[in-house]
Amino acid sequence: MNFLEIAKSRYSVRDYTSQKVEQEKLEKILFAAHVAPTAANLQPVRLIVVQEDEGLNKIGKAANLYGAPLAIIVCSEHTKAWTRPFDRKQTVDIDASILTDHMMIEATELGLGSVWICYFKTDVIKKEFQLPDTLEPINILAIGYSNENPADPERHATQRISLDELVHYEKL
Ligand SMILES: Cc1cc2nc3c(=O)[nH]c(=O)nc-3n(C[C@H](O)[C@H](O)[C@H](O)COP(=O)(O)O)c2cc1C
Repeated sequence: MNFLEIAKSRYSVRDYTSQKVEQEKLEKILFAAHVAPTAANLQPVRLIVVQEDEGLNKIGKAANLYGAPLAIIVCSEHTKAWTRPFDRKQTVDIDASILTDHMMIEATELGLGSVWICYFKTDVIKKEFQLPDTLEPINILAIGYSNENPADPERHATQRISLDELVHYEKL
């Protein structure tokens, strides 16, 4: 499959089988994160891989993982982040999200389901995983084998705004 075919076939999976994600596939997913770009190549992102029941239960206190056997907590390291000088905007959340997207698309290519999770209690994650103050959990990527019927790859025609609404061609 080419990139667009993979992107179209990806959908948010909210029901997983109990089958574990193979170490080889996990390593490919982490490698996809490793090659992602970050602002000024400062790489202010850290990943916490959680696949043991104890860790998954800790996340369960903060978020719904929908039964996924693997979760990756994507954290921003604020002290290492690039800051735009004009308005002091930190790009750290953007960096974290690019890594998350790389992993999500790689998981799709490997035949795995995933769902990107932002609906979680950051304070609980910080406490349960004893994160230092400088490390902020931004996204949780739940990954595993889907127990759902695959979503239609052509659904975006109705489930996304139109290209006309999305895109504005500035005329000279
Ligand atoms: C930044 C972000 C945060 C999201 N947070 C959640 C979440 O907390 N829980 C959830 O079930 N889905 C979450 N999603 C998944 C979206 O709801 C989903 O991608 C969107 O509805 C489109 O559906 P699709 O992924 O099946 O194409 C999130 C997606 C993104 C990009």
